[in-house]
Amino acid sequence: MTEQGREQQAIPVITIDGPSGSGKGTLSRLVAGRLGWHFLDSGALYRLVALAARHHAVLLEDEVSLTTLAAHLDVEFEAVDGGVDCRIVLEGEDVDNAIRTEQCGRDASVVAALPTVRQALLERQRAFQVVPGLVADGRDMGTVVFPEAKLKLFLTASREERARRRYNQLNEKGIDANLQRILSDLETRDARDSERSVSPLRPANDAVVVDTTGIAINDVVMQILALWREAARKTS
Ligand code: DC
Repeated sequence: MTEQGREQQAIPVITIDGPSGSGKGTLSRLVAGRLGWHFLDSGALYRLVALAARHHAVLLEDEVSLTTLAAHLDVEFEAVDGGVDCRIVLEGEDVDNAIRTEQCGRDASVVAALPTVRQALLERQRAFQVVPGLVADGRDMGTVVFPEAKLKLFLTASREERARRRYNQLNEKGIDANLQRILSDLETRDARDSERSVSPLRPANDAVVVDTTGIAINDVVMQILALWREAARKTS
């Protein structure tokens, strides 16, 4: 490994993996904000590939073209007010809402099952590991993308609670949603994300599993920060 590679690996990473609606996104943002670290929403990258495919009339079965799209994705993550939130701009267009629809989530899950697409996005994700640290949210952050992370979490929550959270999130954004449809989509997506041959959704062997069902978000944030302080003490 080069000197630069070694320096990058020394930058701390907390990985937060789990199924849709487990609270990863909200928690990752809050933890990154509290620590003053960067934030990687890796699911957004798969959603962006799915949206780019739609824009360029690429079929979800066309792995070669999807991989080319993933490798050359023209995307900017523009920080908003110097915080962890950002505007996502794809080929010059603000796509914040467009990538959050349930249709885009379904397409992203199909795209994410393709090994060459995952490979094409690997280095782009690792480039987010910059000082002072990174909180990385996804499905395979602890198992594949950042296997050396100092703290790995795997969040779970009951399927009903996850569907309700998704429903509320979409409503808040003014996006039309149907709870029953979300529940059945979650089941399909969980199955596809967990059963795919490459980077399936599963906790890393050294991950701490946290069930967030019925727990207030701020309590989970405090729990994660306490786990981080302990992990940092052990490795310093
Ligand atoms: O977290 P999300 O709903 O935005 O993710 C969209 C899809 O991308 C989801 O079906 C799983 C997939 N994904 C993945 O396979 N690996 C990741 N690291 C992140 C998301």
